[in-house]
Amino acid sequence: MKVKASAPSNIALIKYMGKSNVLGNLATNPSISYTLPHLCSHVELEVVSESSDRWEALPGEQYYNFEMSEKGRAKFLNHLQMLKDYFSLSVNLVVRSANQFPSDCGIASSASSFAALTQAVYELARMSQGDARLKAKKASTAELARLSRKGSGSSCRSFFGPFCEWDGDKIEALSYGVELDQLHHMVVLSSSSRKLVSSSEAHVRVKSSLSFENREQRTVERLKECKKALSDKNWPELFETCWAEFWDMHSLFETSRPSFGYMEPSSLKVLAFIKEVWRTEGTGPVVTMDAGPNVHLLFKNSDGNLAQKLKKQLEVDYKVLSSFDSLKSQKFIEKR
Ligand code: DP6
Repeated sequence: MKVKASAPSNIALIKYMGKSNVLGNLATNPSISYTLPHLCSHVELEVVSESSDRWEALPGEQYYNFEMSEKGRAKFLNHLQMLKDYFSLSVNLVVRSANQFPSDCGIASSASSFAALTQAVYELARMSQGDARLKAKKASTAELARLSRKGSGSSCRSFFGPFCEWDGDKIEALSYGVELDQLHHMVVLSSSSRKLVSSSEAHVRVKSSLSFENREQRTVERLKECKKALSDKNWPELFETCWAEFWDMHSLFETSRPSFGYMEPSSLKVLAFIKEVWRTEGTGPVVTMDAGPNVHLLFKNSDGNLAQKLKKQLEVDYKVLSSFDSLKSQKFIEKR
């Protein structure tokens, strides 16, 4: 028996950074993200008569080559075991996964792949008999999101869109009309150097920063600002809120003991370029950065021409991945 599921990635505007409980990934602060439907992960589960579960790459020309580290595999298979226990599934499985975006593109695949794994186990339980089927019948999307959070925090936001708010056990969709619900997304790959501190490690280390003490308060305030800017369709205000937020997170990194960081000279160049766009054009993209050197840009729907223009300019110096590109994901959607 085989089941397949897929899930999109997401980019946080108000960041999840710091955990009140590492077990179960309970965040110290609320967050908001925009879901990225053009960047998906896929998971296939096959029931096998083997003595344990194992992972392998999902083959298919529609996917990008991808290998999971030993640590990554262990985290993924632990999550699978937790889900099997939850749904009372006593079968062993080969879990195959792949992404529709390149692994070096600055998009963390953990949100989309943990969400896809959670969805796939749920589908398997739905097709099973007995307890598993009963448990699956009762599981709402919010419940699946909460289960997924236990594997990787940010994955819980991939169950909802176009925007998603995650605050403790509350994980829900937010929508603000076509202009804001259908943003153009771009990630500027300003560096290809290897990440020295994983985001899971960053969650632990930021607690040593003196600025961490008021972090929750600041995010609660900024989350309100972010939702208000979205409701008022106040794009410049949204830009300012998101700009302050990613700098807040990056300054936590730099003020940790020992300090660490992801910002590179090339990231700063891209940020300065975008600031200049806002000054000269009177508009521009919302900017954010995750735990990495790459710069994410979100353009409102009506700024499509500006997005295309900036993409061309940025491509002179950097690799740019955008929702305009004919990614393998789009090929996959056509095939279906
Ligand atoms: C910087 O969800 O990757 O991207 O829960 O340990 O798996 P774990 O962490 P993860 O953290 C993501 C952190 C972030 C900000 C965000 O997505 O909100």
